[in-house]
Amino acid sequence: MAAGVLLFVGVNLACLAVSGNLVSGARSFSIDYKNNCFLKDEKPFRYISGSIHYSRIPRYYWKDRLVKMYMTGLNAIQVYVPWNFHEATQGVHNFTGDRDLEHFLDLANQTGLLVILRPGPYICAEWEMGGLPAWLLQKPNIILRSADTDYLQAVSNWLAVLLPKMKPWLYVNGGNIITVQVENEYGSYYACDYNYMRHLRTLFRFLLGEDTVLFTTDGNTDKEMTCGALEGLYATVDFGTDTNITEAFKRQRRFEPRGPLVNSEFYTGWLDHWGDPHAVVNAQKVSRVLGEMLTMGANVNMYMFEGGTNFGYWNGADHDTRFRSVVTSYDYDAPLSEAGDPTEKLLAIRDVIKQFREIPSGPMPPATPKFAYGFVTLKKVGDISSLLNTLSPLGPVKCHHPLTFEEIKQYYGYMLYRTTLPRDLSEPTPLISPLNGVHDRAYVSVNGVFQGLLQRDTVLVMNVTGRQGDTVDILVENMGRVNFGSKINDNKGILSNLILGKDVLTDWMIYPLDLDGAITRGWPHSDSHKSFPGHQKQPSVGPVFYMGTLQPNGLARDTFLKLNEWTKGQVWINGMNLGRYWPARGPQQTLYIPGPLLSTTLPNNITVLELEGAPAHLRALFMDRPQFSATAEKS
Ligand SMILES: *[C@@H]1O[C@H](CO)[C@@H](O)[C@H](O)[C@H]1NC(C)=O
Ligand SMILES: *[C@@H]1O[C@H](CO)[C@@H](O)[C@H](O)[C@H]1NC(C)=O
Ligand SMILES: *[C@@H]1O[C@H](CO)[C@@H](O)[C@H](O)[C@H]1NC(C)=O
Ligand SMILES: *[C@@H]1O[C@H](CO)[C@@H](O)[C@H](O)[C@H]1NC(C)=O
Ligand SMILES: *[C@@H]1O[C@H](CO)[C@@H](O)[C@H](O)[C@H]1NC(C)=O
Repeated sequence: MAAGVLLFVGVNLACLAVSGNLVSGARSFSIDYKNNCFLKDEKPFRYISGSIHYSRIPRYYWKDRLVKMYMTGLNAIQVYVPWNFHEATQGVHNFTGDRDLEHFLDLANQTGLLVILRPGPYICAEWEMGGLPAWLLQKPNIILRSADTDYLQAVSNWLAVLLPKMKPWLYVNGGNIITVQVENEYGSYYACDYNYMRHLRTLFRFLLGEDTVLFTTDGNTDKEMTCGALEGLYATVDFGTDTNITEAFKRQRRFEPRGPLVNSEFYTGWLDHWGDPHAVVNAQKVSRVLGEMLTMGANVNMYMFEGGTNFGYWNGADHDTRFRSVVTSYDYDAPLSEAGDPTEKLLAIRDVIKQFREIPSGPMPPATPKFAYGFVTLKKVGDISSLLNTLSPLGPVKCHHPLTFEEIKQYYGYMLYRTTLPRDLSEPTPLISPLNGVHDRAYVSVNGVFQGLLQRDTVLVMNVTGRQGDTVDILVENMGRVNFGSKINDNKGILSNLILGKDVLTDWMIYPLDLDGAITRGWPHSDSHKSFPGHQKQPSVGPVFYMGTLQPNGLARDTFLKLNEWTKGQVWINGMNLGRYWPARGPQQTLYIPGPLLSTTLPNNITVLELEGAPAHLRALFMDRPQFSATAEKS
């Protein structure tokens, strides 16, 4: 086997050395099975690529990141298309602003970068529900990523919108898309449904044309390759620095005896979950293994090259032994930082690439300037229960038993469940989530007084006291849907009855909360002349809103927000949802604020929803550098 690989390596180097014998001016992109490489315009071609997710970077910084990738010597980028980012409501598509995929492709094309497109429909990506829209869960027991008829119908409708938009961007049609991935690591999914993959193959062929190079990517085991690969889709592998690359490519060879070697996801770093240590991958190791793969003639995509940020509610989660949600930053310890700055790792990678292809001359663009704006004092607006008129314009849905987020059709963020105490509870009485049905965190108060919280998988009981008829408010947080594995049917809210002492809690008023709508319209700053109800009396525990302003100083620079000694919550600036903070849990300690969000002339409006407890000193700090971990700074 090893000899076979060695022989093959020789052939592949020959392939890369062949000079072109281009006969016509026609654009083409294909696989050369004879010489084990790609052919671009009939000439041998190898890509050195990096992953970048437009959905994790504000539009105004797309070009900056792409130029830095180009200047590193990459000739391609790899791009996921998150379905739920474009079709958050069934049948309503958004391809504008930060969701303008074609503008992103255009910028990449202008920069001189080819594109490896990964349109899913499932993408994983540590993104909410792996990119699948949560409205799919309205059908109970839908089998996602299978030939389930409702799932297939939704997929077909979506691809019939997306792929015709992509078709003009195919390389053969004058664009920059050279290859298109079908599904994503499908072999890791329990269903292993070939009918589903065949259906996708038919759709992709029909909508993009017979000649497009379609491929699959799977983890580096025989089982994954067996369920993920399908005839007519070129099988590629993914692996990181700890894998034996000879072994890994040998496995690809078992499924593709001929054709280019491809590592579709070479891990330059790794993601963080709340409560886990900050992940780092050594730069020397990354550059050494990259060099080894390039020496073998392989095509490599670095995942990630630029990670970006899980703004708003877009982070995903894993569920192996327990639910673990992905942090807001998707810095990934990647060669370009979350804020798009070149790192030592990038320079080491560029030095390796230089040995294999000519890299653009000229300096690497510098880091975007940062600014430490310092401290801002915040003040209390009020607790969530007293603000429902503003935050829940639709008002409550009444139901005997609790309904899920999906049933209410509010897919992301927070909802409030209200009922009353069925009897006097003078002694602490257990409130139990017997079937572990709180997805994912519930903040419980009685008559506006915070009593504690329930948490999926880990905190299934808490104590409550109060009098019969007292109002029980349970704010439930969706912490991001599972993006990988067999538990991706991840409904949110209160999924099964809660029990208080010996009573099942019933007769709920369920308030969908449009926090983002209210804040986008200027609340609470636009109301700040009014006095907020009961704001003096309320204690600073439980879910409470705070506001403050960062005075403009003529600079709109990137900055990092630190909510030191705050516990857990969500924060917005000038209407933009920056994501979740949870310094008490870590590792992430600061939130990235892109400079162009800030006004140079108007007061910058900060809104904080603290879910558990604010510090005595209500203030936020704007720093000029990120802090990814409470224990150690990024090296
Ligand atoms: C589409 O998405 C953009 C970018 O996030 C947003 O600004 C815009 O309001 C959205 N359009 C609609 C109609 O929701
Ligand atoms: C992509 O860029 C090339 C070269 O700059 C240009 O000729 C081509 O028209 C562009 N394609 C599209 C679809 O804009
Ligand atoms: C990788 O595996 C091959 C056998 O396929 C072995 O010869 C080689 O020593 C291994 N390399 C490393 C670095 O362990
Ligand atoms: C609830 O209260 C009882 C009685 O005070 C106490 O023994 C028990 O530990 C408490 N349980 C929780 C989960 O706090
Ligand atoms: C902040 O809110 C105030 C009050 O509504 C408003 O006048 C101001 O324009 C807002 N600032 C920005 C940058 O939008």
